[in-house]
Amino acid sequence: MDQSEAKKEIERLSIELNRHNHLYYVESAPELSDFDFDVLLKSLQELEDKFPEFALDNSPTKRVGGDITKKFETVVHKYPMLSLSNTYSEEEIQEWVQRIKKLSDGKIEYVCELKYDGVAIGIQYENGHLKQAVTRGDGAKGENVTNNVRTIRTIPLSLTKDYPEDFEIRGEIFFPIDNFNRLNEIRRAEGEPEFANPRNTASGTLKMQDSKVVSERELDCFLYGVYGADVASGHFETVEKVADWGFKIPSTKQRYIEKTSSVEGVMDFIYYWNEERKNLPFEIDGIVIKVNNYFQQEELGFTAKSPRWAIAYKFKAERVTTTLEEVTYQVGRTGAITPVANLKPVQLGGTTVKRASLHNQDQIEKLDLHLLDDVYVEKGGEIIPKIVGVNLDDRKKSAEKVIFLETCPECETKLIRREGEVQHYCPNENGCPPQMKGKVEHFIGRKSMDIDGLGVETVDALFEAKLIENLADLYELTFDQVVELERMADKSANNLIQGVEASKEIPFEKVLFGLGIRFVGETVAKKLAKSFKNMSAIRSASFDELVNVDEIGDKIAMSIQAYFLDESNCHLVDRLEQYGLQMKIVEKKGASTKFEGLTFVVSGVFEDFSRNDLKGVIEENGGKNVGSISKKTSYVIAGDKMGPSKLQKANDLGITILTEKDFIEMLNSSEV
Ligand code: IVH
Repeated sequence: MDQSEAKKEIERLSIELNRHNHLYYVESAPELSDFDFDVLLKSLQELEDKFPEFALDNSPTKRVGGDITKKFETVVHKYPMLSLSNTYSEEEIQEWVQRIKKLSDGKIEYVCELKYDGVAIGIQYENGHLKQAVTRGDGAKGENVTNNVRTIRTIPLSLTKDYPEDFEIRGEIFFPIDNFNRLNEIRRAEGEPEFANPRNTASGTLKMQDSKVVSERELDCFLYGVYGADVASGHFETVEKVADWGFKIPSTKQRYIEKTSSVEGVMDFIYYWNEERKNLPFEIDGIVIKVNNYFQQEELGFTAKSPRWAIAYKFKAERVTTTLEEVTYQVGRTGAITPVANLKPVQLGGTTVKRASLHNQDQIEKLDLHLLDDVYVEKGGEIIPKIVGVNLDDRKKSAEKVIFLETCPECETKLIRREGEVQHYCPNENGCPPQMKGKVEHFIGRKSMDIDGLGVETVDALFEAKLIENLADLYELTFDQVVELERMADKSANNLIQGVEASKEIPFEKVLFGLGIRFVGETVAKKLAKSFKNMSAIRSASFDELVNVDEIGDKIAMSIQAYFLDESNCHLVDRLEQYGLQMKIVEKKGASTKFEGLTFVVSGVFEDFSRNDLKGVIEENGGKNVGSISKKTSYVIAGDKMGPSKLQKANDLGITILTEKDFIEMLNSSEV
């Protein structure tokens, strides 16, 4: 291909891929299978690698990230990014509506919107292309996070039609709750401290140096304002119009946005979302009410900090006061230390709260906690209650300041805090009881060795009886030893021994995951197993060989090398090999094609299978797993706790919904 052909082809592929991205993420109506999309993307990537001079700034290949931004440049906002005046009082909202009525001539229409709990962003487009994305910062200037914003699939890189030449669009970037929980699930499995809430995590993610990580986290965005272009006479109509250019806008069907002329209409919207917000797939912290007409907005003008034509009603986070009785410390599987506030029991949001996580030392210092302080405890959108402040007026003079531990509460080893990290760790990996137990618990878990007949309590009992010290010791256990344990009947003891024996057939990637190497989660274990094929290749892999594997970065590579530099770990793995555990991958021959051409969405929690097992079975039988429901989905397999919006969407599109049992029947039947 010569230069001019390459240039044309790069442009053609970029336009085509951007169109398919929009169809998939914004319209939920893909025309291409994921596989075909990936093929197109790969050919564009190959062409761009050969002819980098022709790659467009907004190439769809940028969606998967890869650019490392060392420091974010500061950018002055063309239009200052103001904040909203807000209130927690319904009366004040009613007064505001009445006041606006008096101030302005003519009929007033109000637009009610959700107040998305995320991070504000201003995105500039020139000639239909995304040019720059800047955070709010101090309102006058923010940080240029364009590389990271380009990875957000619902933000168009290039616009479709009828767009103004030059404008800025503003909105809120947020972390969808499902994605956030999934991220924390992975962190739990990898022994990493969990993130506290979607909002802070969205903000932290947007400021990450490596846009590849941002891409994987799958942030989302709603847009709520256009600057620098005359689109329509009112805000509501403008928002509707920008959908034509390719933006994801809040839908009226779901009542995410609504126009009303009456105070009753405004209050009805507030009451509706006060109840319904718990069912949303993202977090909101209130409702925004805006005067619709731009002339009227202009008449009303601004105060120094916020527009007079808009107000936010904030939902009250339930808050109570109670006493901090003690701070205790938990030691996780990887030695991470989490301080926990032990509180005088108090009723909050329908449950009795006795404990709240304090996350880390910095949090304790920020709150300047003293023992027996009266603390304010809140339960916002988050499930875990948090301490948001201290009543300083009632603090006794003699109150003792909470000083973070210096040694491990379990084994008294001196704690460490690595540079750049907020968490303290106990480094005594192989001698600290909760770490030793935690490693075994992780190893026997459903996603790793899935050992029947062995649960957390039995692991405790085995440690108590000094029958095991590490996960390899499980394979030396005998029936006679186990049956001696308290509350262990013959049958249970047999189950346990058989379960341990059966685990020798568990595939290599699960054994690798089960070792609990820091940062080696399920996906990373699969990637490593696929690339290196066996344990000894991973053990002897150089740093460069490790980072050459897709999705393995410096952090993971260093952790793998550190694991195998420790002789006790090598000895452990040698023992597992001697006992006959799977230490290499088994290539599948002649797998079934039963589900070929079928696309599945697996959602919720299941009884007999883990979600990943189900996905594995689908793939093994030639089917394809996708994350979101579209017209092209063949089946949705619905477990417990599947989100109502997903279920609704599947029903709206007329997609067959299978229970776990239906799916198993389908798998075993001769026809599909
Ligand atoms: S309009 C002049 N609409 O709330 C300000 N803001 O306190 C115009 N926010 O920084 C903002 N949802 O990050 C607007 N539907 C919505 C919003 C919204 C969330 C955030 C935004 C802003 C903050 C204002």
